[in-house]
Amino acid sequence: MRLDARPIAQSAGPAQFVQILADPVGSPYLRRPFSFLRVDRDAGWFEIYYDVIGPGTRRLQEARPGDAFNALGPLGRVFDPPEGHLLLVAGGVGIVPLAFLAWDHPERRLSTTLLMGANTATRLPDLDALLPADLVRHVSTDDGTTGHAGFVTDLIEQHATPTTAVLTCGPHAMMARVAQITAELSLSCYASLENHMACGFGACVGCVVEYRESDREDERYRRVCLDGPVVDAHGIVW
Ligand SMILES: Cc1cc2nc3c(=O)[nH]c(=O)nc-3n(C[C@H](O)[C@H](O)[C@H](O)COP(=O)(O)OP(=O)(O)OC[C@H]3O[C@@H](n4cnc5c(N)ncnc54)[C@H](O)[C@@H]3O)c2cc1C
Ligand code: FES
Repeated sequence: MRLDARPIAQSAGPAQFVQILADPVGSPYLRRPFSFLRVDRDAGWFEIYYDVIGPGTRRLQEARPGDAFNALGPLGRVFDPPEGHLLLVAGGVGIVPLAFLAWDHPERRLSTTLLMGANTATRLPDLDALLPADLVRHVSTDDGTTGHAGFVTDLIEQHATPTTAVLTCGPHAMMARVAQITAELSLSCYASLENHMACGFGACVGCVVEYRESDREDERYRRVCLDGPVVDAHGIVW
């Protein structure tokens, strides 16, 4: 879905998200968070890509050209990828913020590899539509209907170099496994979290994640919407 919103599009950066009041009748106080897929800062639009799962995303699906939505953003911190080879590990709609990173950093694409996992071929999104054509990608399906037969995490070791940084987004269990594997391989790893959110800007404390080590008890939990959504995957409790 493409939305015209010049102020949001002009300042949106990789991993940030937008909160859309998608279900103003059913839940007027709860916006729905969506990662940016692509932005055109000159034209003033941004795109999102979503799974339809409840009333908010159903309302978005029913939208017609010209409909207006109240949107708040960009929210969260911009993720600045470290130098060197980047391995993007995606599951489901977790591909969205990773695709945006690739769109927004064309100079990094030659040193970036995407691994995309799904349980079966029909659950894979149309990667050609979502990704820049020059981004190298490898696919896996749990049932072997296309690509590697098995989990996407099986592919990490063969596509990583000793200096690769891994960025992952997808189901919790997948990201936890990516964190575990990268720790074993001594690779840095960042996760773009999709915790349930209410406000999206730090006020409700509804999105916290627990950090492993913190000197101060009051810093043990951090807000994903403000401190993330990208976090050091080795620093949090999965
Ligand atoms: C930072 C961030 C970025 C996101 N980016 C995307 C994206 O690019 N594309 C996309 O499809 N979705 C994305 N999501 C998830 C999306 O916000 C939810 O799917 C959406 O809010 C569901 O709204 P709904 O009204 O359709 O369903 P609801 O009625 O709100 O929820 C239906 C079901 O989905 C569950 N659910 C609600 N919110 C979430 C959530 N945040 N994570 C997991 N399950 C949830 C509920 O527990 C419930 O079981 C993102 C979430 C976050 C926090
Ligand atoms: S969603 Fe309210 S504090 Fe993060």
